Amino acid sequence: MKDLISINDLSVDQINYIFKLAETLKKNPYQSVLNRRSMAMIFEKPSLRTRVTFEVGMHQLGGHAVYLQPSDIKLGERETVADAARNLERWVDIIMARTFKHETITKLAENCSIPVINALSDIEHPCQAMADFFTVLEHRKNFSGFTMAFVGDGNNVCHSLMLLSGKLGVNFILACPKGYEADTAVTAQTKSLMAQNGGSFRIVHDVNEAAVCADALYTDVWVSMGQEEETKIRREKFKSYQLNADLLKKASGEMLVMHCLPAHRGEEITDEVIDGTHSIVLDQAENRLHVQKAIILYLLHKDNEITV
Ligand code: CP
Ligand code: NVA
Repeated sequence: MKDLISINDLSVDQINYIFKLAETLKKNPYQSVLNRRSMAMIFEKPSLRTRVTFEVGMHQLGGHAVYLQPSDIKLGERETVADAARNLERWVDIIMARTFKHETITKLAENCSIPVINALSDIEHPCQAMADFFTVLEHRKNFSGFTMAFVGDGNNVCHSLMLLSGKLGVNFILACPKGYEADTAVTAQTKSLMAQNGGSFRIVHDVNEAAVCADALYTDVWVSMGQEEETKIRREKFKSYQLNADLLKKASGEMLVMHCLPAHRGEEITDEVIDGTHSIVLDQAENRLHVQKAIILYLLHKDNEITV
């Protein structure tokens, strides 16, 4: 495995191994094993969590990260994606990229010999999903019979959560308006993974149907980065797909409330729900750091140098 572009790149054993390594790193965060290795961080879109966790993570491991903002390199515009990749591999040891098009990340990976990590594309957000299920594990100990209900848009975050549910044998329900279902290829891959590993996949349009069987209620923004011109129509279509106190009353008293953040309070989630007792959103955000450090070490083959 050279890159982490999709959850599909990971085997079940690799996922469990990364979770264990993340647990170790969470207990003992400062491990100088990277010996001044460098990461290029390519951002075509804004970020708080991803930028800080990758940059701080590299630093805590004894490496260094170079932040390249959208206006710095203009991938595919100032020079081709392939040329940028061929240059970067001469200077740095690993690349992470947040791009509009998923193909930009696959092109980067195809044109360099160093690992490339998908830090969010239009199709997937694998590091988010890995941190999210690691967080569920901290709160629930195992995934046996677990049902995740994703309320909102069948988007990049939803796709990675679906695929990871398929790997882990978790039940997944997507509650979304008609026309905003998950990508058909990702849906087919999820179903095929569930046929091997257990779990079930369902799409519903009634949010209450998802809430009644949810062990976790997960939501994300109605308008993802790059979809800003659709804001008006999306606000209208998604208005009944909100995590609010009424919806929570229909779910189990033990249910977890999850969000990848940033949250648009008052749209997909209310203040009282995101700040309420069921919410684990800040644990999710914290665990981006620990899980991504484990991913970096695994890809750079430095994982076996870690001590607790
Ligand atoms: N969840 C997430 O990726 O956050 P940022 O967009 O702030 O990086
Ligand atoms: N779906 C959101 C996730 C942000 C972390 C987006 O793509 O903007």
